Amino acid sequence: MPQPFTHFAQECRARVDSALDLYLPLADDPTQLRAAMRYSLFNGGKRVRPILAYAAALAVRPDTRLALIDPVAAALECLHSYSLVHDDLPAMDDDDLRRGKPTCHIAFTEATAILAGDGLQTLAFELLTKTDFSPAIQINLIRQLAKGSGADGMVLGQAIDLAAVDHQLDLQQLETMHRHKTGALIRASVAMGAISAGADEAQLAALDDYASAIGLAFQVQDDILDVTGDTATIGKQQGADIARNKPTYVSLLGLDAAKAKADELHRHALGALVSFGESATPLRQLASYIVERSN
Ligand code: IPE
Ligand code: IPE
Ligand code: MG
Ligand code: MG
Ligand code: MG
Repeated sequence: MPQPFTHFAQECRARVDSALDLYLPLADDPTQLRAAMRYSLFNGGKRVRPILAYAAALAVRPDTRLALIDPVAAALECLHSYSLVHDDLPAMDDDDLRRGKPTCHIAFTEATAILAGDGLQTLAFELLTKTDFSPAIQINLIRQLAKGSGADGMVLGQAIDLAAVDHQLDLQQLETMHRHKTGALIRASVAMGAISAGADEAQLAALDDYASAIGLAFQVQDDILDVTGDTATIGKQQGADIARNKPTYVSLLGLDAAKAKADELHRHALGALVSFGESATPLRQLASYIVERSN
């Protein structure tokens, strides 16, 4: 009987939360910078990217000591939290609510939010130098995070997203946007967990196939929740995409087709894991969670 996913997820969340607290402790700061960084980290995120990294490591090596993955998981969450702080800025999505609380630039100032994002991003890369892995693995981890988050990954997706406001995208363009703005960091999360556990090329390829599918599914579900969720549950203003005329899977395909797309991607993700045995159970459970989640 596999361990229930909620237990595994809770264990991972507890691990990454204490790692983040360790690496970014409360400390005297004459400015609001550190407070804004901690505010943006400890405000109720689901920690999906860290959980993916732990789960990918376990898929490759079931006896992985999870403590080895802690700095990698913390780095992923720092990078992700930075992307949210900047995504919410007035010049980008201009959102007031994030994880059920005022966004960073509302709770602090816009300049502080920009700097908090900068600080979180650079902290992410610093943490990847704090692992117990060989220098070759550490460099590979840094490269994966840079690729996933930079101008060929998340940042490119964000640029496509902003350029697309008030424009009609076709399905291909929408998919490209989603694969970059959200999928790329999710692929990096899985790859980094797997690399940390010493994955071989065949394992990395199969896991990347899985991650590409659930990375896209994650953003399809995010688009769906913008329509079907309620503000209290999603912790973000419901209907924000519609209000801002954002191209989304729902606006382009309608709700039913968007749900069908998420289901198809879910099946694809499970299919990509056929060569893995029980060790990939947490990854399979995560795939289900990603398309079934309500926040
Ligand atoms: C929100 O990410 C932004 C997207 C990439 C869709 P999450 O849904 O993982 O947000 P948190 O971290 O749980 O708040
Ligand atoms: C998020 O996309 C992409 C990021 C890189 C942060 P969204 O703009 O749809 O995310 P939410 O809905 O604000 O969380
Ligand atoms: Mg956005
Ligand atoms: Mg947004
Ligand atoms: Mg969204």
